[in-house]
Amino acid sequence: MTSTAELRIAHFSDTHVLSLEGATPREFLNKRATGAVNLAFNRAKQYRVELFEKLLDALVALRPDHTVCTGDLANLALEAEFRRVEEILVARFAPDALTVVPGNHDAYERDATRAARFENHFGAWMPKDLRAGRPGTYPVVRLRPEFAVVGLSTAVPTPAFLATGTVGDTQRAEVARVLSQPELVDKFRLVMLHHPLLPDPSRPLDVMRRLTDAPAVIDTLRAGDPHLIVHGHNHVFLRNRLPGTDVPVIQVASGSRRKAGHMAELNVYRVREARLVGIERHIYDEVQDRFVAHDEWGRTLS
Ligand SMILES: [Fe+2]
Repeated sequence: MTSTAELRIAHFSDTHVLSLEGATPREFLNKRATGAVNLAFNRAKQYRVELFEKLLDALVALRPDHTVCTGDLANLALEAEFRRVEEILVARFAPDALTVVPGNHDAYERDATRAARFENHFGAWMPKDLRAGRPGTYPVVRLRPEFAVVGLSTAVPTPAFLATGTVGDTQRAEVARVLSQPELVDKFRLVMLHHPLLPDPSRPLDVMRRLTDAPAVIDTLRAGDPHLIVHGHNHVFLRNRLPGTDVPVIQVASGSRRKAGHMAELNVYRVREARLVGIERHIYDEVQDRFVAHDEWGRTLS
């Protein structure tokens, strides 16, 4: 990026919208019939669609240059959930204002991936610039004069109680090809995916939520030389870095959660000369009923 102007990219994730409207009993004769569905209903008490809408209104008011979303928009990957989220997004984002990739909840059961529900509902925000294959395949690629977004899918159906993700060899090869294209050389290069690249030893059962091919993905990204990697999945803000590099790897918290100490938030990445120079965390304040800007350490910004 040659311009010295500041680029601002907003990021939200993990809104877990639950909607059973029009769901048929047949859709529950699978993983959704297990105890896992109880978890989904408990989750819905904390992850509120009205707070998600408030978050997006606050985000739009910040007028970022672009917005990225790293998945888990749905909860049980039911058609009604995707329809609800599509309505919410279409009211706020033109196709060139937002780029999305799916999370494990968007591929909760095989019927959702077979019907390509995520891609059918959100395809408007999944560009394939740079002749990067046919629509509905991954990675998604967005090229702008100042930046490039390369969005990976880690979303694969898993057995009940597993929340793992996988990029896979074919997609990884395409990511390597895209990141090596000359069109990306002078741009700020942002890579996004749903699952974290690194394990979180502080989380019990982290192994059941991991990216199964993380070491290979890390190698691919290291060779591709991105400037920033962002992801969701674990619902807390976290800064890491790509092993063996100084490339920041940032995890955003949930964009719809209403729980003391874990309120909904979004990140804004401030970029100058292809370098991340700051992160604003806009966190919901229940008393003020609005989103308040914080620095990455949680201190209120005036
Ligand atoms: Fe997730």
